[in-house]
Amino acid sequence: MKGLAIRQAEAADAAQLAMIHQAAFAKGWSAKEMASLLGNGATGWLASQAGAPAGFVLVRQAADEAEILSLAVLPAARRKGLGLALMGTACTALKAAGVKQLFLDVRESNAAARHLYARAGFVCCARRPAYYADNMAACVYRRALS
Ligand SMILES: CC(C)(COP(=O)(O)OP(=O)(O)OC[C@H]1O[C@@H](n2cnc3c(N)ncnc32)[C@H](O)[C@@H]1OP(=O)(O)O)[C@@H](O)C(=O)NCCC(=O)NCCS
Repeated sequence: MKGLAIRQAEAADAAQLAMIHQAAFAKGWSAKEMASLLGNGATGWLASQAGAPAGFVLVRQAADEAEILSLAVLPAARRKGLGLALMGTACTALKAAGVKQLFLDVRESNAAARHLYARAGFVCCARRPAYYADNMAACVYRRALS
């Protein structure tokens, strides 16, 4: 995609990641929370469109498994392939780091994300009823990387 650049996020990117998260979720994470995640084992990738930060994915690896902690794209930058590109970057890097299975939780009502994860090769492997504070169920998605 023209003008798209994806690089690994650093502690100095915490405020940008928080800005994107707050634009994408009702309960956005703060820059302090982002910095804490990045400083405590999480890895992120930041996507920029024409030089401006527009999306990120954050993951945590444990042995040969990993979990997507968050994926977000600014509303104005959606449906241009950033989400899929971020997932592709994360999957390639995690596979190279020895990850065999990648998991994530997503709200059952989040059709956009569920379509994206299906496009990215994930399958729904479990349902957690009333998982979120508003009683919405979570779908657990899994993708084998080997
Ligand atoms: C989910 C999200 C990250 C998708 O980002 P994006 O950059 O728009 O995704 P892409 O452009 O790469 O879309 C890839 C595919 O996902 C699916 N998709 C994405 N948005 C969709 C929507 N609103 N409705 C239906 N399908 C959608 C489509 O299959 C799309 O391919 P297409 O555009 O060729 O039809 C973005 O909508 C977002 O930030 N949402 C709010 C935060 C969120 O819900 N994160 C996930 C939490 S688990």
